[in-house]
Amino acid sequence: VSLKNFNSFAIEASARYFAEISHEDELVELFMDPQWMAMPRLIMGGGSNMLLLNNYDGLVIRMNIRGIEHRISHNDVFVEAGAGEVWNDLVNYAVTHGYAGLENLSLIPGSVGASPIQNIGAYGVELKDVFESCRAFELSTGKFKTFNKADCGFGYRESVFKSELKGQYIIVSVKFHLSLIPNVNLRYGAIEQELINRGITQPTIKDVSSVVSHIRVSKLPDPSTIGNAGSFFKNPVIAADVFAGIQQKFPDVVNYPAGDGMVKLAAGWLIEQCGWKGKTIGHTGTWKNQALVLVNHGGATGTEIYALSSQIIDSVYTKFGVSLEREVNIIN
Ligand code: EPU
Repeated sequence: VSLKNFNSFAIEASARYFAEISHEDELVELFMDPQWMAMPRLIMGGGSNMLLLNNYDGLVIRMNIRGIEHRISHNDVFVEAGAGEVWNDLVNYAVTHGYAGLENLSLIPGSVGASPIQNIGAYGVELKDVFESCRAFELSTGKFKTFNKADCGFGYRESVFKSELKGQYIIVSVKFHLSLIPNVNLRYGAIEQELINRGITQPTIKDVSSVVSHIRVSKLPDPSTIGNAGSFFKNPVIAADVFAGIQQKFPDVVNYPAGDGMVKLAAGWLIEQCGWKGKTIGHTGTWKNQALVLVNHGGATGTEIYALSSQIIDSVYTKFGVSLEREVNIIN
């Protein structure tokens, strides 16, 4: 089965076996068969945060469980969505109904089920700010378990599903805690600027969603026309004393406080300073408006993109002494 249409990098790779799951009972059934249980497996949502290096010699499971339900209690709205729902469809559902909390996360590619795994975030909001719980299938027992927020160990682009519990659970649904009372988050400067440009003084969540979508479209390549997986690297978080040394040499270094005496650097800035922004190398390159995004200009292989990412890591390390970490999942 070709995976080209199932990964946003549009890498031509195939899966030896492929299963689509539309109901959680199908997971139970699938893993009652020891043949599948023993096989290497890859769980796919929207395929928007992975780089396939080879054909996949195992079972690819595409999560397609649908459905969005909501329950209102006073001003609180609890929305539960199936793992296979498209993330932005959920955002639009919430914004249209006047359920506040997801608007800053408009237009993030991918599926609902993948959203807790790396605690997706953008424009001043992270998933953990609106996360209530999720339901997941435990592969070793065949049982379902509910994870509350505290169980998930959320951090910057981190959760237990990426670290200590990696590969042990498949998320089947996620419940969000939204509100009927909007509390718009304009912490990201460009949002406020664009609202001013539009002459909006009392922004609704619809306005915020529209502005965020506008900013994303202007900065980030559309995966339906140019293969990419969003930010390829994490923004590095370093100790304040290390930062002081860098700032002395590079006074313009873009940085944000990260708590606990740590400083977060803008990886896009570091990469741009090394001369990579908008460069094309073979079939690959970095995006002209955002150097943190690696792109497939057409016909790139996973290994080609991976090689470019290694070159970028080396040059950023040589210039700044900072090690970039890949944010995208590398599938070997
Ligand atoms: N910058 C440059 N050159 C570049 C890109 C960025 O100098 O080519 C500098 C600019 O100073 C800019 C700053 O870096 O102001 C930050 O850039 P931006 O606001 O675009 O955000 P980011 O830190 O590069 C992060 C997330 C994005 C998210 C945006 C907005 C990560 C790894 N990425 O990017 O998330 O949309 O903030 O909140 O944290 C993703 O995870 O795939 C993703 C797109």
